[in-house]
Amino acid sequence: MSITAHGGQLIQRLVTEVQAGALRKQADSCRSLTLPPREQCDVEMIGMGACSPLTGFMGEQDFHSVCDTMHLANKGPVWPVPITCSTDSATAAKIKIGDTVALRDGAGTLLAMLTVQEKYPHDKQKEARLVYKTEDPAHPGVAVTMQQGEVCLAGPIDVLPRTSPPPFADFYLTPAQTREKFTQRQWRTIVAFQTRNPIHRAHEYITKCALEICDGLLIHPLVGETQEGDIPADVRMECYQVLIEKYYQPKNTMLAVMPAAMRYAGPREAILHAIVRQNYGCTHFIVGRDHAGVGNYYGTYDAQLIFNQLQPGELAISPLNFEHASWCKKCEGMVSAKTCPHGNEDKVFLSGTKVRDLLKAGQRPPMEFTRPEIADLLIRSMK
Ligand code: ADX
Repeated sequence: MSITAHGGQLIQRLVTEVQAGALRKQADSCRSLTLPPREQCDVEMIGMGACSPLTGFMGEQDFHSVCDTMHLANKGPVWPVPITCSTDSATAAKIKIGDTVALRDGAGTLLAMLTVQEKYPHDKQKEARLVYKTEDPAHPGVAVTMQQGEVCLAGPIDVLPRTSPPPFADFYLTPAQTREKFTQRQWRTIVAFQTRNPIHRAHEYITKCALEICDGLLIHPLVGETQEGDIPADVRMECYQVLIEKYYQPKNTMLAVMPAAMRYAGPREAILHAIVRQNYGCTHFIVGRDHAGVGNYYGTYDAQLIFNQLQPGELAISPLNFEHASWCKKCEGMVSAKTCPHGNEDKVFLSGTKVRDLLKAGQRPPMEFTRPEIADLLIRSMK
């Protein structure tokens, strides 16, 4: 028996090809909105059921309840981050409740149809303050929120099937498909690893520790919108494949992409990441140091501590917490402060900036930090 989807059942909003044909015709006579990248990713995630129990973009009660209480309205299930679709006031004024709006990408491709049930002011400051814990416009998630429209349009969406293969098609699995694969492999406990970076030795260590106590490992990189400066998804995908081939047990390891956008919301996003992985059928979720963090906005372990605010049983998936892992020269292996008595001076530690500088200069970081095969791929990508 696989883990239940969040809220009780997997809610998929993807329509069939036949329904899509009718929706495309209908869209010709509807008002269109061009979605920014983050909302495009949200549409895709909702369509495939990764955001169960959401059926579309959040209404006003849900928005405020999520910001204030981390739950959907009326004491609903845990939900940590608003998922909204917004537009400018002038456009919103022309849209009536009950209208159907065609949601498109920048190229004009129809992604989904939104049935507008509500229009409400987008309280961006509130979202920034409560969800991102900062109103600093330099925070990449806050910056995206601030660029959103003044008015949110809410209601269920009907998502159209893609007309072309998705990026990383070979590794594209919907929650229903990962669930099926886990069953085929007879995995009862599956740990998911969220990442937006190449897998360095620390990541490898925590995933393998987690795999020691689970039947299977899902390496589940986020490949939707990330901030400039992050390593592009195609480079990372190459790194993951090489690493899995050379250093993981393929019998117990699966690689699939998650087409979500990164919000950099630290602790709140850790909960979102866990909920989504529950929907994909995972039973455990790795939360390490500064999960989904950026800059110095969050404490190193805030993303672990936030799970303590939830009542037992509110999430079916279990977080697996890991302390900062690194190589210890005295222990001659990967350790954390939990397992090693030696000091920082014995650790191989490099900042993100240092690693980037080394790679840009064509130099491999120490092998205790990054496997040479991965370093070479990263160096090549920076040329
Ligand atoms: S994240 O935005 O997806 O969290 P990243 O890809 O760097 O960023 O991290 C993936 C996961 O590994 C997160 O759970 C993060 O907390 C964890 N992690 C990253 N580096 C370390 C480390 N040195 N020690 C322990 N956990 C780590």
